[in-house]
Amino acid sequence: MSRKSFIAMIIVFALFTSMHSGCGGSSSSTSYSTNGDTVTSNDQSGNTTSGDQSGTPPTSNDQPGTPPTSNDQSGDDNNSDNSNTNSNTSGGLTFSPDSYTTGTVSGVSYRAYTNITYVASPVNESYQRMSIFIPETYISGGTINGYTASTAPIFMPNSVGGYMAGQISSPNASNSAGQALAKGYVVVSPALRGRNVSNGTAPACIVDYKAAVRYLKANKSNLPAGDTSKIISSGTSAGGAISALLGATGNSSDYDTWLDAIGAADATDDIFASMCYCPITNLDNADGAYEWTFGGSSTASTTLASQFIAYVNGLGLGYTLNSDGSGTFADYLESTGITLSTYGATRDKTQIPAFDRLDLSSAENNEFGDKHFTDYGYSNNTATTNGMADSAIIKAMNPMNYIGTADTAKYWRIRHGTEDRDTSIAIPALLALKLENSGCTVDFEPAQGERHGGDYDLDELFDWIDSICK
Ligand code: DHB
Repeated sequence: MSRKSFIAMIIVFALFTSMHSGCGGSSSSTSYSTNGDTVTSNDQSGNTTSGDQSGTPPTSNDQPGTPPTSNDQSGDDNNSDNSNTNSNTSGGLTFSPDSYTTGTVSGVSYRAYTNITYVASPVNESYQRMSIFIPETYISGGTINGYTASTAPIFMPNSVGGYMAGQISSPNASNSAGQALAKGYVVVSPALRGRNVSNGTAPACIVDYKAAVRYLKANKSNLPAGDTSKIISSGTSAGGAISALLGATGNSSDYDTWLDAIGAADATDDIFASMCYCPITNLDNADGAYEWTFGGSSTASTTLASQFIAYVNGLGLGYTLNSDGSGTFADYLESTGITLSTYGATRDKTQIPAFDRLDLSSAENNEFGDKHFTDYGYSNNTATTNGMADSAIIKAMNPMNYIGTADTAKYWRIRHGTEDRDTSIAIPALLALKLENSGCTVDFEPAQGERHGGDYDLDELFDWIDSICK
């Protein structure tokens, strides 16, 4: 091969790679009342809709530092909220536009396509289903907030909390689903498996979220409204972590075996944008970040803090830490509006390590099938059994491994409360820095005065969505 054609080949390869990875990759009836909003069944499938489910993920405000615990540890999947059988997709994964109910929220009429099973071979059908809500205005060719049926963004929040299963949220006047409809977005609310339901431990939550996206994209031309190239995920805490994973890992082949096993639709799963409230993410480095931020002088604390310092320095993001914990990364956090001396003065998670607990008792250990997910935890195990989670699963649960190499979403909004100590703010900050470093457009800010929670700034969230979609 000549030198010229070799160089041309390299250029073509580089162009191909830049197109396919990094940010912006590929880019008669019953009526009942819910919070004063009317829902009318017009369903031609013979099914009923599920009742109202709050869109607010559980938060741990009442018990600082403690993830929400499951009220269903039985493994029993009878989930009354998601219990209706769906016939929208009977016989396959084809969306049927004729099977819907109708409702009204805050004066906005919508069609509800409820409880659609989004995979062909579900392993937990109570959770592998979703509902799609479409403003009625689009059906008759109208516009809302400057959007039409073909340009309306698809807002796709999850309701995962504590790494437990997320349920479908129906729109109401106070939740993000209801308010998003009024902004003219199509709302998709997926249920996702979690650690408290059968077949629900890692990586089930992200595999299901991806499968739901694939279903939408496979049905692009069957949906009455919604632009499948403008899917925006959102979530809080563990749900924020899953939102980050969905945004970071678009089309990564790492998930193919799991997606194939549940019969996910044959389509891509990259998304346009991701909203992450206080994401409990980067679990392999969260213990070190916690000790670097909130730690004391014990050997365990200082060992983990030094591991974090080495991790930050190895990321190559242009921000570093000295062995005493000071450095440009600390300065960067201060520049965003965090006062580290005040913020770091109190810890909410009392155990060391905070996440990969030595006795395997954390929500995260449970998410990994009652196993460790760090070498530190495994080497210092105090539980009667000791096991390390599969390395492919640990990798697949950390968005940091995929940013810039998968078809990562182009747009990100990340918020972490200044009073939130469920994970160190260093974790979402590193997520933001790595995304920026890979060419993504990131809006990251500490939320002044907020504790561990999300959806406290929906007006600003929707302004941000409009700014990137219009
Ligand atoms: C959540 C909170 C935590 O402190 C945690 O460790 C995991 C999850 C949550 O609220 O989802």
